[in-house]
Order: sequence, then structure tokens, then C-alpha cells
Amino acid sequence: MNDFIYDVPVKVYFGKDQLGNLGEELKKYGKRVLLTYGGGSIKKIGLYDKVVAEIKKAGLELFELSGIEPNPRVTSVNKGAEICKKEKIDVLLAVGGGSTIDATKFIGAATFYEGDAWDILTEKAQVTNCLPIVTVLTLAATGSEMDPGGVISNLETKDKIGYMHPLMLPKVSFLDPTNTFTVSEYQTACGSADIMSHIIEVYFNMNQDMYMLDCVAEGLMKTVIKYTPIAMKEPENYEARANLMWASSWAINGFIDGGKRQAWSCHPIEHEVSAIYDITHGLGLAILTPRWMQYTLDETTVSKFYQFGCNVFGIDKDMEPMAVAKKSIEMLSDFFFNTLGLKSTFTEIDIDDTNFSIMAEKACRGRVLPGFKRLNQQDIENIFKMCL
Ligand code: NZQ
Ligand code: ZN
Repeated sequence: MNDFIYDVPVKVYFGKDQLGNLGEELKKYGKRVLLTYGGGSIKKIGLYDKVVAEIKKAGLELFELSGIEPNPRVTSVNKGAEICKKEKIDVLLAVGGGSTIDATKFIGAATFYEGDAWDILTEKAQVTNCLPIVTVLTLAATGSEMDPGGVISNLETKDKIGYMHPLMLPKVSFLDPTNTFTVSEYQTACGSADIMSHIIEVYFNMNQDMYMLDCVAEGLMKTVIKYTPIAMKEPENYEARANLMWASSWAINGFIDGGKRQAWSCHPIEHEVSAIYDITHGLGLAILTPRWMQYTLDETTVSKFYQFGCNVFGIDKDMEPMAVAKKSIEMLSDFFFNTLGLKSTFTEIDIDDTNFSIMAEKACRGRVLPGFKRLNQQDIENIFKMCL
């Protein structure tokens, strides 16, 4: 186990009667608030009116940026940063899912940069400062509400790049499970596939990890497996939505990776798929993850799959380790494609092999992805072919 620092100073208001604290929290950072949101779901669910009322009640000045896209574009980030500079915004309030929160993080950073925000993503420019960010989460998935990262797309270059900086960590996040009651079955399923993947990316590693953290990761995965079908069938089931919401934050807020030497695999691969085909991130992960597992399973990795199969899916410990490993992959596939009803192949979502080579090259940046199993361009192309 490696040494680590755990420092995640995000104040979380969890629960259904917490929004009354929003005005006071925003006031701590100044008077001029830029409210950012997506395509309008927050208006349909009545959250926009509630948030605006809180801002007004606190006597703050309100500015708005709407229309942040799923797989948010750098053009929206630049637009937001321009507003912040022109209107001398003090604090950002992101209300929505991961896309809105991610874009808002880069708006906060790009406000202190004279130039295209894409330079930050491509690391041509440094993050030197960031406006304070407050979030109201509406979709349990990315964990952006409690992590310092974000992922931004550039349609011109067909790139989707993830980047993180401690200055972009939200100061305060409001997690009200009732705000996720209206999330569609499909987005609920994709969100849960994303949460599962965040845990899997950390859990699957062959170092001598901390037992306690593996137990937490297994508990988080069991939580997602238990509650996602309930949330899909009964969208207003508070217990299910609450469990998924808190699991989404804890899957990626840095806690479960303490001490692990880790490098993610499915995420960099998926980002290349959604960069070109603009698919929902969680769907791409659901299709890729079981294939990545099949590809990486061998005599050297079987023990981790055995642990996963026994502790997460309750497979009989007395079975042969390789048989448990294979069954665990089948059970994960069954969860994604039958229980959650997600499409199971690229072919079904109109992705063919045209761009496999370029996507694989970009995913490993022309070298090797140093994850659970080291993957080169050819390995990644092979995994893509398994997804057809
Ligand atoms: O745009 P609006 O109208 O808000 O609608 C959204 C959008 O169409 C809708 N939605 C959100 N909350 C809703 C709702 N509909 C009804 N009721 C609600 N309460 O859902 C759709 C998807 O929203 P989006 O924000 O795109 O989803 P998600 O939270 O899954 O975010 C995905 C983005 O986050 C990135 C992904 O790559 C993708 O770009 N990620 C960010 C990470 C991070 N910051 O750490 C890590 C992840 O691995 C991921 O890469
Ligand atoms: Zn993800």
C-alpha cells in the first residue's frame, strides 16, 4: 500500500430539505452569481424556480448560462467564462448533472485565463485560479459534485479530454435525492453503469491493497446492483435514489483509491468513443467493461475476478477461480444488458469499425495504457472489435 493524502473539502448538504441553505452558502463567496444549467430539465422539474427564489431571497444578483450540452462542449465553457469576466461574477452555481458541473468547473478556471479554454484541457495553459463553485446535483452518475475533475468535448477536433485540478473542486454540493426522481430509466441505467465503472477502475488492480477499501468498494457496487432496478421501476423511491446518489459521490471522491497505485482503463477508452459518436458516457462504459474484463482475464489476474465474483455477486467460493471469474463477467453483463436494459453492442448503436484504429491510438496516446493490464493500441482495437 502506498502513502496517500486525503483532502476533499466539499461541504455536502444531503437530503430533501436542504435547499434553504443555498442563499447563505452562496453569500459567503460574493453577490454576483452565475447560474449554469443544461437543456431545461431543471425548469421542467420545478427546481429552477426554487433555486432562483433562494438566490433572490438572499439578495444576490443572478446571471444565467443555459444550454450546456450532455458531453459538454468547450464552446459553452468559453461562453461562460466570457460572461464571468464581463459581469464580474463572484460565484458559480451549477444545477444539473455531470455535464453542467464539469463545464462549470472549466468556466471557473477559464475566467482567469485570457484565451481559449481548450488550452487548459490540452495543458498548454495552467489553471492558476478558479471561481468558487456550488452545485445542486440532479443526476447520480459522475461524482463531479465531489471531485476536482471534468471532461470536455471539442467538436472541431473530435476530442474529449478529462482534466482535474484541486482548485476546481466544488466548495458546496446540495444532494437532494428527490431532484433525481425525474431522471429517465435510460439515464438512471447509464448513471449506474458509470458509478459501477468508477469503482471497477479502482478495484481492479493487482497491488496489495487495503482490505478495508476493497470492502467499501464491494459495498458500493452491491448498493448500485441492489438499488438501480428499484429506482428504474419506482422512480420516486427515495431510499433507492438516495443510495445511488451518495454512492455516486463516494465512488470517485478519492476515498476508495487511497493508497492504491491505479490507472484507469475503460474511461480513457470510452472517452474516445463518445468524442466521435456523442453517445452517453455510461452506455459506452457498459458495452466496453465486460469486454475489457474478458480481454484482461488470465492466470495472472484471475484472483481479483474471483474476489469480485464471490464478494459482489455472491458466487460460490468453492468453485474453480477461473469459473468464478467467467461467471462474474457474465453476471455483470446480465446486470447491464438485461436488468438495466442497456444496448449491449456497438452495432446496435450504429458504431462500426471505421474509427477503431484512431480511437485506440488516441486512447493510449500512441503508447500504452498502464492500467490493471497494460494495453497497447492493438489491444484496445481488439477490445473494440469484441464490442461489435
Ligand atoms: O441537459 P438537461 O436538460 O439538464 O438534461 C439532462 C441530460 O439530457 C438530463 N437530466 C439531468 N438531470 C435530470 C435530467 N433529466 C430529468 N431529470 C433530471 N433530474 O440527463 C441528461 C444527461 O445529463 P448529463 O449531465 O450529461 O449526465 P451525466 O451526469 O451522466 O454527465 C455525463 C458527463 O460527465 C462526464 C462524462 O464524460 C459526460 O461528459 N464525466 C465526468 C466525470 C467527473 N467530473 O468526474 C467522471 C465521469 O467518468 C464522466 O467522464
Ligand atoms: Zn465515468
